[in-house]
Amino acid sequence: MKIGFFDSGVGGLTVLKEALSKINCEYIYLADNANAPYGIKKKEDVKKYIEKCIDYLVKRDCKIIVIACNTATSLSIVDMRKKYPNIFIIGTEPAVKVAADDIHNRILVCATSITISEEKLKKLIETLNINDKVDLVAADKLVTFAESNNFTKNDIENYLKSIIDNKRIKEYSHVVLGCTHFPLFKENFKDLFGENIKVIDGNVGIVNNLINKLRLKGVNFNNKNSTVEIVISKKDDIFVNNAIRILGKEDIKITIINN
Ligand code: DGL
Repeated sequence: MKIGFFDSGVGGLTVLKEALSKINCEYIYLADNANAPYGIKKKEDVKKYIEKCIDYLVKRDCKIIVIACNTATSLSIVDMRKKYPNIFIIGTEPAVKVAADDIHNRILVCATSITISEEKLKKLIETLNINDKVDLVAADKLVTFAESNNFTKNDIENYLKSIIDNKRIKEYSHVVLGCTHFPLFKENFKDLFGENIKVIDGNVGIVNNLINKLRLKGVNFNNKNSTVEIVISKKDDIFVNNAIRILGKEDIKITIINN
C-alpha cells in the first residue's frame, strides 16, 4: 500500500515525520518546490499546481493521499475528492477545534494568506461559535524562511513581532499553527508568547485520521519497515538537506520531475 503525501515544500514533512513514527508503509512525498510558496500566489494558478500534483500521486498508484498542506486543502480538497472518488484524500485544516475545546482565552490562528482568506476557515470558526475570540494572522514569510533554511532566531522573532499585535500577546491562551511549515518554528512561538501558551498543530490529528482509514481498508501497517521516496518538481540540494534534517532519516530516495 503506497501512501502519497503532498505539500508545496518542506512543511508537509512535519506531518510525514509524525506518520513515520506510527505507520510503517511505502511513502511517496511530493513537494511542488518549483511553485512554492503557494500561500501568496493567485488562487487559480495554485489550484492548477495542486491538481497536477494529485494527478501525479494517483498515477504513482497511491490509494491514500494526504494533502499535508492547509492552503491546498482549503482551495482544492472538494474538487480533488470529486475527481478521484475512489482514492481516500485526507486534508489538513487549522486545529482550531482543539483550541476551542480547551479552556481558552483568545486564540490566534496563524496561516498563509490564502488559507486565511478562504471560506473553509471562516466557516469552521463560525461553526465553533468563537468568532469574537479568534484573531487571524498571515505569516507567509515563515514558509520562505523554512524553504531556504537561511534565518537566525532573531529573524524569526522580529518577523513574528512585526505581524502580531503586541498589545494582545498576553491575551492569547492558544496559538494554532494553520500551516504545516509552522511547526518548524514552534519554539519561536513559545519564546514570544511565554511559557503558558499552548501552541497547537494538527499533525497528530491528521495521522490519527490516516490510521483510521488504514484500519478501515484492513491494511496492516505494523510489520514492515517504511520506505520514503521524495519527489520534487525542481532540483534543489537545499530542499534535500532540509528533508533529511527534518525527517532525521538518511535513506530517502529522491526523484526529480518536471511538473
Ligand atoms: N505548507 C502549506 C500550508 O500548510 C503551504 C505553504 C505555502 O506554500 O505557502 O498551508
